[in-house]
Amino acid sequence: MNVLVTYFSQSGNTEKIARAICEEAGKAHEADLVKLEELTPEAAAGYDCIFLGSPLHSGSLAAPVKECLKVLKERSGQKLAGFITHMAPAYPEQDMDAFAAPMKEACGEKQIQYAGCFDCQGVLAEAMHGPVQKKLNMDDAQWADMVNQMTGRPNREDLDNARAFANAVLG
Ligand SMILES: Cc1cc2nc3c(=O)[nH]c(=O)nc-3n(C[C@H](O)[C@H](O)[C@H](O)COP(=O)(O)O)c2cc1C
Repeated sequence: MNVLVTYFSQSGNTEKIARAICEEAGKAHEADLVKLEELTPEAAAGYDCIFLGSPLHSGSLAAPVKECLKVLKERSGQKLAGFITHMAPAYPEQDMDAFAAPMKEACGEKQIQYAGCFDCQGVLAEAMHGPVQKKLNMDDAQWADMVNQMTGRPNREDLDNARAFANAVLG
């Protein structure tokens, strides 16, 4: 199987997951890692399975990731799996399903297989701490607790879980 792992990542968290998935996929398949910014629709069309990664931005997939979904090829026989990183410790499953819904919907529209979405925590970039603390209306103690929980993520366990997800998707 030809596997593409493509991702949008501003501060490196989603990229770490992408690298783990690609490394794992590469053990039994041809696997390429391509930044979303460098991916052309023509190149994407040549893969049997696409892993598409996004950070969560304001409760939504990052804008370039949503754009990318438009270029999936109809009835191509491809399979799409998603992966998302977010700073919040854990979202209820129904929230994660809602965040990943555009991927699932795009697969439905294009009649290609949707293979689910992995997610894990990813530390928020330092420059965003002030604005996000303010937006979430957290006092310093609550924010310190939040930062404490996200520091170091994705960690080794997250990367192992991402690898297990890749294996489950690739069967
Ligand atoms: C503009 C912006 C909006 C964000 N919105 C959310 C959000 O709604 N929920 C959340 O849990 N994390 C949110 N985050 C945190 C990122 O999703 C998280 O740090 C992610 O791991 C970043 O991935 P990256 O390093 O690959 O860019 C936001 C970050 C940015 C920069």
